[in-house]
Amino acid sequence: MTERGKIIVLVGIMGSGKTRVGQALSKLLALPFVDSDREIERMSRYSVGEIFEKFGEGEFRLREKQIMLRLLNDGTQKVLASGGGGFIQPEIRHEVQEKAISVWLKPNINVLVERNGRNNKRPMLQGSDIESRLRQLMDVRYPVYAEADITIVTDGQTPHDTARLIKMEMDRHLGRKGNSAVHV
Ligand code: S3P
Repeated sequence: MTERGKIIVLVGIMGSGKTRVGQALSKLLALPFVDSDREIERMSRYSVGEIFEKFGEGEFRLREKQIMLRLLNDGTQKVLASGGGGFIQPEIRHEVQEKAISVWLKPNINVLVERNGRNNKRPMLQGSDIESRLRQLMDVRYPVYAEADITIVTDGQTPHDTARLIKMEMDRHLGRKGNSAVHV
């Protein structure tokens, strides 16, 4: 697959806007949008919460790995929103680095606390103070998300604005690779 034809994978912590921005980006680029958590739910016939509850996090990570590897290798260019822990799994990350362009969405902590406070369905944030749990996860995960090809600080923009910014940054990123004459 050429650099220009690559899958675009959005990575970032829970509440960073991967789904909303991914939908806006897929419209802008006229590409299909796939959300890996929804794919896991479709294949498993359980919600993410139910998978954690019934089978545990380890089983969720296995399913996440299977589905991400399949989506990265099905030959279809797409915008792919990964779950917050997807890029943290080494096998997924290596495949993303090999097959896709990765974009880290990075809002500030206040935005993350506010968004995750509104959505209390996330198993990784159950039973603890949301801000301290997010900070713990950020300590571990941010150095790994930083391996993405492109980082976008998303404070205050609409999903559409963020999508436009990503498109510009992707053009720059691909331009640096000497491919700028071809359009996505
Ligand atoms: C997780 C993030 C969730 C989902 C699961 C685990 C994580 O996805 O995959 O609850 O470990 O960060 P979102 O980031 O889309 O909420």
